[in-house]
Amino acid sequence: MTSTRIVRIDHRAWNDAPDHVGASTPVAELEEGKVLYFPELRFALSDAETRLLDPALVDPKRKNISLNATTGKLTGVAVEDERRNAIGALVRRYYETTRHFLDRLLPGYASHLHAPTTSLRLHRIGTWKMSWRKDDTRLHVDAFPSRPVGEQRILRVFNNINPHGDTRQWRVGEAFDTLSARYLPQMPAYRPGVAWLLHKLHVTKSRRSAYDHFMLQLHDRMKADAGYQRDGLQESIEFPPGSTWICFSDQTPHAAMTGQFMLEQTYLLPVSAMAHPERSPQRVLARQVAAAH
Ligand code: SIN
Ligand code: FE
Repeated sequence: MTSTRIVRIDHRAWNDAPDHVGASTPVAELEEGKVLYFPELRFALSDAETRLLDPALVDPKRKNISLNATTGKLTGVAVEDERRNAIGALVRRYYETTRHFLDRLLPGYASHLHAPTTSLRLHRIGTWKMSWRKDDTRLHVDAFPSRPVGEQRILRVFNNINPHGDTRQWRVGEAFDTLSARYLPQMPAYRPGVAWLLHKLHVTKSRRSAYDHFMLQLHDRMKADAGYQRDGLQESIEFPPGSTWICFSDQTPHAAMTGQFMLEQTYLLPVSAMAHPERSPQRVLARQVAAAH
């Protein structure tokens, strides 16, 4: 089967943009919920950096190491020696590299991308035990219980940095609108009073919007639905070491099945900065909720 949800782009350089991308533009493909896949866009590690690829360097209480590039705060590193600085430098270099690349690939977004968070994932998928809600081997769209996003999109740049040749295997699901339309009838209504209380109690960092409420519901219902996980429209793809892939992870259903060692860069983008805001999960869900009443 040829993939319709994954757009392959043969391009090797971080410091310029590809000449052409499928039949469309990178922004149009992303806003349709597709994955931009660069099989040969490698993020090269030095030998010293490769030695940092060790799960023992992650704080046992955390799933990943992460950098807030705005504040410079690095979290999740288990060691206090010089390896901590080396990890910080590696993660920051990935942030800067993706930032410059996206400025060229997606110039219309460039000045609007914000809240960068970089994550270094050192655990082999499946070895870090967690509840079904946090189990990313189940197809899901990204939505986080304590961090409402409101009018922001979640754009992510992934890179497989495995030094042993292990691919990262993903499943990618259908278009967002058909998915959300199927689950919406089962979802309870949004309750502003509950959202207010959760914020007051510091369960959430800001107040959940109706959108945040429905996205969490969707995230949980997809993950809990064994029939959907097994039989839902999906395709499998293996991302080899040295490859990069980009998607709106709040829109593109995805599951990470196997693999180890990855860098991932998250940016938030205001819905209003999209070329077609009406394609956002925010607007799709709002239309579907309005039509149901
Ligand atoms: C996810 O974002 O759901 C997991 C991605 C990955 O670990 O490859
Ligand atoms: Fe995810």
